[in-house]
Amino acid sequence: MSSQPLSMSQQTATKQTERMEKIVSLCKRRGFIFQSSEIYGGLNGFWDYGPLGAELKRNVKDLWWKSMTKMREDVVGLEASIIMHPTIWKASGHVDTFADPMVDCLLTKKRFRADQVDPQSGVVYSYTGAKDEASGKEVNEPYSVLLPAGKPPESARKVAVQFYSQRGLANPALVGESTEKVENTTRYNPENGSLLTEPRMFNLMFKSHAGPVESDENVVYLRPETAQAIFVQFKNVLETSRQKVPFGIAQIGKAFRNEINPRNYTFRSREFEQMELEFFIKPDEIVEKQAGGIAQLSDSTDLNEPQANWGWEVWHKYWVEQRMSWYESIGLGRETLEEYWQKKDELAHYARATVDILYKFPFGTQELEGIAARGNFDLSQHQQFSGKSMEYFDQEAAAKYVPHVIEPSAGVDRLILALICNAYDEEEVTDEKGNKEVRTVMHFHPRVAPIKVGVFPLLKNKPALVQKALEVRDLLRPFMNVFYDDTGAIGRRYRRQDEAGTPFGITIDFDTLGENGPEKEGTVTLRHRDSMEQERVKISDLLSILLPKIQ
Ligand code: GAP
Repeated sequence: MSSQPLSMSQQTATKQTERMEKIVSLCKRRGFIFQSSEIYGGLNGFWDYGPLGAELKRNVKDLWWKSMTKMREDVVGLEASIIMHPTIWKASGHVDTFADPMVDCLLTKKRFRADQVDPQSGVVYSYTGAKDEASGKEVNEPYSVLLPAGKPPESARKVAVQFYSQRGLANPALVGESTEKVENTTRYNPENGSLLTEPRMFNLMFKSHAGPVESDENVVYLRPETAQAIFVQFKNVLETSRQKVPFGIAQIGKAFRNEINPRNYTFRSREFEQMELEFFIKPDEIVEKQAGGIAQLSDSTDLNEPQANWGWEVWHKYWVEQRMSWYESIGLGRETLEEYWQKKDELAHYARATVDILYKFPFGTQELEGIAARGNFDLSQHQQFSGKSMEYFDQEAAAKYVPHVIEPSAGVDRLILALICNAYDEEEVTDEKGNKEVRTVMHFHPRVAPIKVGVFPLLKNKPALVQKALEVRDLLRPFMNVFYDDTGAIGRRYRRQDEAGTPFGITIDFDTLGENGPEKEGTVTLRHRDSMEQERVKISDLLSILLPKIQ
């Protein structure tokens, strides 16, 4: 029997699935990402970072922190507790509205996020109930099963019989069968055709209790975002940092969401890290009063240098540009990203504009970061719920106001996944003997690469080579992450570092020791991961060559 050829889009989807599987396998094999609690069977939605992943993550967070705080006059940092006063989450709206619609399969009890069930078409087989002939027992609960077109009705009846058996009938005879053609319904489990429950809202915050008594008064939440701590500490930071509006507060930290359906590897996890900035700006009416007008985006404003006449719209666009440039600076080119400007009807009720920065993952183009213009919603809410003023006295404007905010909010783990997907490559290369082989290489930007340089003595049993290599390692180690490796053929050592994404390799050979003449003494070969080219450089020049590339 000949099988149907796959369409172009099916072929692309299969390739992307295979690519993702290879990436997941490399991450485990090389120690980037492990399943949390793996020896106990894992825990859905939780992940651990191995030696290479931990370095990669640290580099990314350090680079964000550097660009957001150290390189700017107008942003300061905060490191707040994860568990905070529960009224914060009432004020922010999380207690009442931070929920996703959830549905359960009536047969297997498997839980889905209602808005993530793929639409399906086919024939629905409905039953009014079932009866057990022997005992005469009846179940009058309606139930239905969706079958894709062309499948025999028996398949639906088998599923329905299973359903009524679970309702206590030993040998159910189905009652009142009817059929109906349907298109694009999301009411059925795509895995077995069973009817799903009606959607119910499920709050995503993890709950716990502070102190030894598990009572309603002691309920606390693991923060679902880092942002709220910034709002509630706004006044303290303002008073201690001597900043003036416009200015920002940045924070990196863990966030927790009890996602109904964690999926796509680490993309949607239950524990993850965020890098968030709340950038406080003057309300437009104050800007207008002071500057005599508001700069319009259409004025072809230079977005590099903030100006006194910038209203929220230009500040928002400024931060979108800043963030896109930052992604580029760590190796995610603009061609790998998309800006999605949310439409008016998609915006949260307090947001004036939101731009999502999306990355083209193998499993689809998905959000890395959201940049929202949130007005003064958050500070006003905390002012109302705490009874403490969140107003700022602007001396230059001689006015008091609750500042507005622009919020670039990025997920560390999603960015790590994007960097890993972006770096992964398989190349056909020819070895010294002319044999073709596949080289797996991670093309990380040197700034984020977990290991910056591999140091290799040509032979491990030549003490002079080993001693020189250790000297080179010790020269570089205070400035960058170095991996020393003296095991196996040099080609294999290069390949191992290619897989780890190490951008540079240094080999210490007999030329280095001056055994082939004095002109090459004190030089090493410097190998570049991406081009695989090698050059001869002086050991004394190594730092000045490497440092600008990794900083
Ligand atoms: N303070 C705004 C806020 O939290 P969000 O869009 O819900 O906005 C911001 O989250 C970023 O946090 C997302 O763009 C994403 O990168 C990351 N993020 C959110 N939920 C996540 C999850 N379940 N797993 C991994 N990262 C997540």
